[in-house]
Amino acid sequence: MSYYLTKLLPGLKEYVASADLRSDSDNGSYLLSVRRAVASYRHFENFKRDKAYNKILEHVSREDGQIYLDVLKSRDDGILEAARPTLLQSDVIGNPRKYDYAGESLSPTTLRYLKVASDLKRLFGGQIGSKIAEIGGGYGGQALVCDDVFKTEEYHIFDLPDVTRLVSRYLESFLMHGSYVTHTLNAAQVDSYDLIISNYAFSEVPKAVQSAYVRKVLAQSKRGYLTMNSGKSDHAGREGAKLTLAELESMLPPFEIYDEHPVTAPHNYIIVWGHEPGATL
Ligand SMILES: C[S@@+](CC[C@H](N)C(=O)[O-])C[C@H]1O[C@@H](n2cnc3c(N)ncnc32)[C@H](O)[C@@H]1O
Repeated sequence: MSYYLTKLLPGLKEYVASADLRSDSDNGSYLLSVRRAVASYRHFENFKRDKAYNKILEHVSREDGQIYLDVLKSRDDGILEAARPTLLQSDVIGNPRKYDYAGESLSPTTLRYLKVASDLKRLFGGQIGSKIAEIGGGYGGQALVCDDVFKTEEYHIFDLPDVTRLVSRYLESFLMHGSYVTHTLNAAQVDSYDLIISNYAFSEVPKAVQSAYVRKVLAQSKRGYLTMNSGKSDHAGREGAKLTLAELESMLPPFEIYDEHPVTAPHNYIIVWGHEPGATL
């Protein structure tokens, strides 16, 4: 359906998957906002402020952004300095909401991507490997930060078909150090990766889809970093439809659980494997 038609007929909904295979973000309006950004440069220039898009991405609060920045400054691990060109570069595309942090205008979402990069550096001692995969890569913001900070060679992004087009449009706006490849789950073959990343994404797809990702991507990955917003039995709303923590323990490589900081929803946690013993966050 053309995006012009969706502008004329508000209330229209479009989905990728059949009802029982839909992720939390495949909500009928997210896909339309992604298609608008892919189809028209005018929308692409402002997609990070699209209301339907903000229900799924680009909704990090000013306060959480401040905490990410404080963590980055207190760790003093060079990520902030190394990524400063990326931070500014990434934010020229899509017109993100920015806030004033001690005189600097920064996007809190980009600060979160930097905090994740800092976590990876701490957990894996700076050795994340050269072949990285991310499930649910959004528009490619984490990919861009990892490319800049770690000089990753191959970065594989798994997402919905229309979203992979937005990833390409976004990443092609920059000059990357390494290469990126986009995949949909069905089109991908079983493969192994040095590190698999998934933040608020693997935990948002239904059980059957999670199981397929475990088989095709996660089980063979040497290292893992997954920010989870499902799996704990007392997590309201998503239980039953997603793999439980006990099921994940039987399916994934042996992992350790870390707290998410700042915690962005009750019962969130981070699954990590392949890290240095005793590494803290
Ligand atoms: C809440 S967003 C998180 C995005 C990104 N990881 C971040 O932290 O900003 C969820 C992501 O999962 C993606 N997604 C939805 N269904 C998916 C599926 N079946 N396979 C892979 N990704 C999916 C969405 O398109 C979106 O990029």
